[in-house]
Amino acid sequence: MDYKHESIIAQEAASQAAAIIKEYASKKSFEIELKGKNDLITDADLASEKKIIETIKESFPDDEILAEESNVLQALPAGRVWIIDPIDGTTNFAHGFPVYCISIALWEDNEPRVGLVMEVVSGEVFTAVKGKGAFLNGDSISVSHIEDSKQALIGTGFPYSNLELVDSYLRLFRSLMDNTHGLRRPGSAAWDLCNVACGRFEGFYEYGLSPWDVAAGSLIIQEAGGVVTDWEGADNWLFGKRIIAGNFSIRKFLQSQIHTFFKQDDLSRQ
Ligand code: IPD
Ligand code: CA
Ligand code: CA
Repeated sequence: MDYKHESIIAQEAASQAAAIIKEYASKKSFEIELKGKNDLITDADLASEKKIIETIKESFPDDEILAEESNVLQALPAGRVWIIDPIDGTTNFAHGFPVYCISIALWEDNEPRVGLVMEVVSGEVFTAVKGKGAFLNGDSISVSHIEDSKQALIGTGFPYSNLELVDSYLRLFRSLMDNTHGLRRPGSAAWDLCNVACGRFEGFYEYGLSPWDVAAGSLIIQEAGGVVTDWEGADNWLFGKRIIAGNFSIRKFLQSQIHTFFKQDDLSRQ
């Protein structure tokens, strides 16, 4: 199966949602509510998600949907499921900070098949289909070949709601500041993953992510020649909340850094 129709529909859904998000952004008229501490939702998230689901359902009425704002599932259903983040980077969007994405993935039988991440402000579109490579605006991309951590730029996300692990984070930051070219926290995990895929970041790690944050970007990394794991180096990164991604060497380096600075208790937490 070549998933061509699915890719076209993902692109169409993202383009329509992006138009809606841009309209909210230009009018600066949206309600901001809190789902939890520092966990924002706006009208634009809801409108974007509605349009994406409608567009997908028109073509694929029998497919399942796992979507951040309207259909959160705790496990992947059998068969085909679309995993949607209608705005990844809502805090950025709400503050007018120009990095926020639409992330759409199709998984089938527990495997990612199609991934699309569109950064709404720049219009960059990252795409991948399983086995067919990864692309930025139609041009083939690959992960960075830098293997020396001293020359690596690392993306991450900071905790914003549950601050219990801040001390471990700070110890890790200190070491990464000392042993890499630096750390970046753009505020959209889907975009962070795409930055690994196209070689701007050598690696990325984060704690506390959800399936809709990582479902598309991870396939794009894998298709760009990179590696995605959980914090144990295993495959439980879709629902496992903890992710490390990068080229082969830098992913390995990040795993060993995390294990040095996070306590065993932190690592075995659910
Ligand atoms: C958030 C962004 C952010 C990450 C958070 C996510 P949202 O997604 O990806 O970079 O640090 O963990 O929840 O809430 O803006 O869709
Ligand atoms: Ca998100
Ligand atoms: Ca979101």
